[in-house]
Amino acid sequence: MLDGKKTLFSGMQATGNLTLGNYLGALKNWVTISDEYQTFFSVVDMHSITVRQDPAELRKRARALLTLYIAAGLDPEKNCIYYQSHVSGHAELAWILNCFTYMGELNRMTQFKDKAAKHADNINAGLFTYPVLMAADILLYQADVVPVGIDQMQHLELTRDIAIRFNNIYGDVFTVPEAYIGKSGARVMSLQDPAKKMSKSDENPNGSIYLMDDPDTVMRKFKRAVTDSEACVRYCDGQPGIHNLIDIYCACTGKTPQETEAEFDGRGYGDFKGAVGEAVVSVLKPLQARFADLSKNKDYLDGVIRENARKAQYFSAKTLRKVQKKVGFPEIPRG
Ligand code: TYM
Repeated sequence: MLDGKKTLFSGMQATGNLTLGNYLGALKNWVTISDEYQTFFSVVDMHSITVRQDPAELRKRARALLTLYIAAGLDPEKNCIYYQSHVSGHAELAWILNCFTYMGELNRMTQFKDKAAKHADNINAGLFTYPVLMAADILLYQADVVPVGIDQMQHLELTRDIAIRFNNIYGDVFTVPEAYIGKSGARVMSLQDPAKKMSKSDENPNGSIYLMDDPDTVMRKFKRAVTDSEACVRYCDGQPGIHNLIDIYCACTGKTPQETEAEFDGRGYGDFKGAVGEAVVSVLKPLQARFADLSKNKDYLDGVIRENARKAQYFSAKTLRKVQKKVGFPEIPRG
């Protein structure tokens, strides 16, 4: 509890091109609920180096991501928007938590298995302990709530387990966080293979809508989206392609699946795909315009980065000191 408000933490990796899944599953919800909380939104660049990065490219993408947070509607005066690498407490707490996490737990993480399969030539220890760094991110700020897409639930469960384990040994040190999953858009699937989640690292660019895609590209990708054989717009599990498109439509328009079914009753897939494309364009266009404007304002962004790094350091230091004391690290003698 800070300033009488509960605390919210979330983060995104600055790797690859952000997709509509990142926006609908996370960023959009961040903006919707941010007013109710004391918030920390991190550009988690330390997570990014678990796979090889070009340094200049990583710096560029990280700055673009931070800019995007603001463009999406997060006011950096009210929300602490910062780079993970600017706050040494993330790594320091991660080390301590590593000593309270079991190999068996990390072995079960599906994201590790997926990434290890994709990067077989670089299965490094950081990739394996990635979820511990994520736990440190969250616990460092005593977050009550963590808005994420469904794919991050397993990591969040582990974070809760680590927090509870630590508290059982040392008393009430960490707040045990809850996930916040949005009503729609929590699991946006590939437009080309609705059994797979829409992902930055998908080799087929037609499966993903990137946040910087222009309107023609968006419309074309939706036109080509895989649908089903029933030829009607119905929200059921037997039609995964249409199910996904209805989810996207609802997340962009605020309508419910039932309202959507009624709106497209008797109309074909072609009409519906066009409407989904337009709904997405109307979300992305203003976002892209604000992003372009903000990107020109170097001094403003530098100021935000500087100020918020300080703020994040200040808040994180409290928890870190408490944890260090609990585990038995000595203080530097005064004098
Ligand atoms: P990342 O960078 O892969 O994704 C950022 C956020 O986007 C959500 N997301 C999706 N939601 C719906 N449908 C999709 N297809 C989709 N793809 C991605 C993710 O669930 C996530 O909320 N490990 C995290 C980053 C992280 C983090 C944290 C998050 C590091 N520390 C602490 C929360 C709290 C990750 O790789 O997310």
